[in-house]
Amino acid sequence: MSDDSRPSPPLPRTAAVIPAAGRGVRLGPGAPKALRTLGGTPMLVHAVRAMAASRSVSLVVVVAPSDGAPEVKALLDANALPDRTDFLVVPGGETRQESVRLGLDALPPGIGIVLVHDAARPLVPVDTVDAVIEAVRDGAPAVVPALPLADTVKEVEPRPYGEPEPVVATPERARLRAVQTPQGFDHDTLVRAHAGVTVDGEGATDCAGLVERMGEPVVLVPGHEEAFKVTRPLDLVLAEAVLARRRANDGY
Ligand code: CTP
Ligand code: MG
Repeated sequence: MSDDSRPSPPLPRTAAVIPAAGRGVRLGPGAPKALRTLGGTPMLVHAVRAMAASRSVSLVVVVAPSDGAPEVKALLDANALPDRTDFLVVPGGETRQESVRLGLDALPPGIGIVLVHDAARPLVPVDTVDAVIEAVRDGAPAVVPALPLADTVKEVEPRPYGEPEPVVATPERARLRAVQTPQGFDHDTLVRAHAGVTVDGEGATDCAGLVERMGEPVVLVPGHEEAFKVTRPLDLVLAEAVLARRRANDGY
């Protein structure tokens, strides 16, 4: 019997962890960022749908604001989500890194691939999600979608906001990339990275950075303009415009 006649091994089960426990200080006063609406629907619901849109994702773990887990659960129950996907809601922590770790702790056994996706990137297209999963399936332990930068970047001696800041260096722009989510990982690699590294202050803003610190390879795949992070008020205007364009184009 030739090798070709053997059934291929089952694909590893993929889960998405969505850290959504941040307050959204840079967005200004109001509800926690993940609960702010875009086109009338909470940003978090868009982000969950974006993960569940991938046929590979069979479980989504939402990491809610620490006192908001029941509210988030009710929100997910009230909004239509695909039947093929399971959902869990767990309370988050003080930093993104802590919130991601709490999400990882909630994963059942048997998950081979984990995506970590910011609730604050509600509009990532499914093709980007699938490209990340595909690269992990192909053997990369950590995969990050990324785009070239529009702006030149300067490294500075930071000073209080408004004071002139001395420039230390100007890295060559062509060698820099802005990273997005979902970032995709071999499950055991990500769990080891989170167990082994504690980062002070704000914590790691990027799970792939923890994998780099362990000395393991991280690769980038092309990101997408629409995977931008809603961070400041102008980003809400852009997100509404992207949604309006989708609705006009294909009744999204
Ligand atoms: N996040 C989280 N737990 C925290 C902090 C952040 O789950 N303690 C999540 C946010 O909800 C967001 C993602 O991490 O989906 C990326 O963080 P960011 O864009 O910085 O969101 P916020 O921390 O909410 O915003 P800000 O920094 O302006 O307060
Ligand atoms: Mg933050």
